[in-house]
Amino acid sequence: MGIKGVIFDLDGVLVHTDRYHYLAWKRILAEYGKEFSLEDNEKIKGVARSRSLEILLEMKDISMSEVEKISVLRKKNNWYLESVKDIDEEDVLPGVLDFLEQLKSNGYRTAIASTSDNAYIILELTGLRKYFDNVVDGYKVKSPKPNPEVYLVGALEMDLDPSECLAFEDSHAGVLSAKRAGMKVIAVSDKEIPEADKWITSLDGLDLSILTI
Ligand code: G6P
Ligand code: MG
Repeated sequence: MGIKGVIFDLDGVLVHTDRYHYLAWKRILAEYGKEFSLEDNEKIKGVARSRSLEILLEMKDISMSEVEKISVLRKKNNWYLESVKDIDEEDVLPGVLDFLEQLKSNGYRTAIASTSDNAYIILELTGLRKYFDNVVDGYKVKSPKPNPEVYLVGALEMDLDPSECLAFEDSHAGVLSAKRAGMKVIAVSDKEIPEADKWITSLDGLDLSILTI
């Protein structure tokens, strides 16, 4: 069956906001006297906010009361929002707009599948919202990546079977989510994600021949 719809993760695939999530967590961990490297960050890429905190507490051997967790999660999000408040069209990653234009002018359906509660904010600030028929964000799903729900809901909202959809993802959790949903997945990452069907480092220069993988 041919591809009729394309589903994109947002942070790290279309916009470089993955960097701001990383920096906000780094600042949180610094308050506890802990380092946080880009390699550490790979373990929480694409993972929901509260689950990310649990992973970090275990990774860095920090104990925290439930009350403190709530305030830390709030602080992390406030710092993240502060750092993205001035982003605009210029922050869309190279090749993204060109690829989206190709998809839209050739009649493909498009959706966002993000675990972030801030997805709409980023889509509006960058002017990307108009390119997507459907947006699935952290508020819309119960089970975050690597659970397949976010990609399955994306396919359902586009009124397509998962086998008719192709996903673009930068995180291991996200690649697993899309694969479990029954889709072909292209990893967009500096490092290979073995579970993906294909690996590219950027959307720059991409054309529709990628849909035939
Ligand atoms: C995306 C990002 C993650 C982030 C998650 C939740 O998947 O890749 O780094 O933790 O969304 O985002 P939020 O904006 O709700 O904290
Ligand atoms: Mg991502």
